[in-house]
Amino acid sequence: MQAYPPEPFRIKTIEPIRRISREDRESAIKAAGYNMFGLRSDDIYIDLLTDSGTGAMSDRQWAAIMQGDESYAGARSYFILKEAMADIFGFDHFIPAHQGRAAEHILSTLLIQPGHSIPSNTHFDTTEANIRARGGKPINLVIDEASDPSNRHPFKGNMDIDKLERFIQETGVENIPFGMTTITNNATGGQPVSLENIRLTSEVYRKHGIPFFIDACRYAENAYFIKLREPGYEDKSTLEIAQEIFKTADGATMSAKKDALVNIGGFLAMNDEELFTLAKNELILREGFPTYGGLAGRDLAAMAVGLWEGLDEAYLEYRLGQTAYLTEGLLAAGIPVVEPPGGHAVYVDAGQLLPHIPREQFPGWALAIELYLEGGIRGVELGSVAFAYVDKDGEEHHPALELVRMAIPRRMYTQTHMDLVIQTSTEIMKRSKNIGGYRITYAPKLLRHFTAKFEPI
Ligand SMILES: Cc1ncc(COP(=O)(O)O)c(C=O)c1O
Repeated sequence: MQAYPPEPFRIKTIEPIRRISREDRESAIKAAGYNMFGLRSDDIYIDLLTDSGTGAMSDRQWAAIMQGDESYAGARSYFILKEAMADIFGFDHFIPAHQGRAAEHILSTLLIQPGHSIPSNTHFDTTEANIRARGGKPINLVIDEASDPSNRHPFKGNMDIDKLERFIQETGVENIPFGMTTITNNATGGQPVSLENIRLTSEVYRKHGIPFFIDACRYAENAYFIKLREPGYEDKSTLEIAQEIFKTADGATMSAKKDALVNIGGFLAMNDEELFTLAKNELILREGFPTYGGLAGRDLAAMAVGLWEGLDEAYLEYRLGQTAYLTEGLLAAGIPVVEPPGGHAVYVDAGQLLPHIPREQFPGWALAIELYLEGGIRGVELGSVAFAYVDKDGEEHHPALELVRMAIPRRMYTQTHMDLVIQTSTEIMKRSKNIGGYRITYAPKLLRHFTAKFEPI
């Protein structure tokens, strides 16, 4: 296979990793209740659980950390971040938050009443849970192509604009306090959303007077996809594309642990002055004073530098190239994955790889465990454990696909690591018929995949 564009950086610090024996991996996963989130990281060789907060910071970010201003109020680091926020996102106001879900929590607390509906292309699980926790209904209106894993639609994360229009008509604007779109669309494969689609989404929301918030976690990866795939944007910089994206919206939530290349951080941004005042008060109650918002001054400083580095096009070319390399490598080995390659992760279609395991026995969960047992690799199920739910009439709903996500931390692993993932997956595929399902022995009410316990059937 052809290599991907080389890393536009060199390695200055290393962190040793080791692969424990198969026998030790078997004991470790059993002790973890067969839940990937229960493992100790020292027992993992290649950790693809998430790209969230797991990347490597640059020497400039570490230098900014040393210069972080830890003043309780009015810290210099806050104003440096504020400048970056204004240049890139252009919203009138923002509050820092310790991560994305804290921003979602504040937004949901302020705007959602029981019975409200919040449409999006596809909400991420923490957004869904925050909406449900307020008695609201998260509604996913992604285009139909998203549920066909082999469809190579260039913007498979797009909102279905007709569905959105119909949903608003049927539900009534009075029941929709705000609408969203997620870029890139994590839950359906890290797939991008086109600028045309973001604009149309915005027009529909605005026509109905519904405030539009973008879940901006991976906005830079999305902007680079637009540059590569959307006619008319090839000569625009990722910064210009990002600015065009956010001009269409009334606000944004962001987990800075993704495209701001930091280990912790996030924000809630908005234009509405009144909402900003309410958000600041909520922030003070839950996170901290508005010029630090649950973070240290040094975290704000690293985020300001990381926001710019995340938009660097040489970095984005390498970044998306690495994900494409792993996706195409698995496909070439005959492993069913969501196509085309997304931005931050590869999504293996466990439903197709393990068709003999019924959905009630969680094929995605079973595959994630095999990846660990075979190669010491940690991925995460995004299938029926994460997303299935029982409605108020007792009917069980499953997501469209049973996926295992292998998310690639930013600036962290090399091509040799990617090759090992391909080799391990190939070994599993050879003996896939002998892999069995799992049953749940404990599950909490919300976000059960984080802490549920399982046993093999
Ligand atoms: C699209 C999306 N939104 C929101 C979040 C939540 O962010 P955090 O984990 O920082 O709370 C994530 C995290 O993975 C995400 O991928």
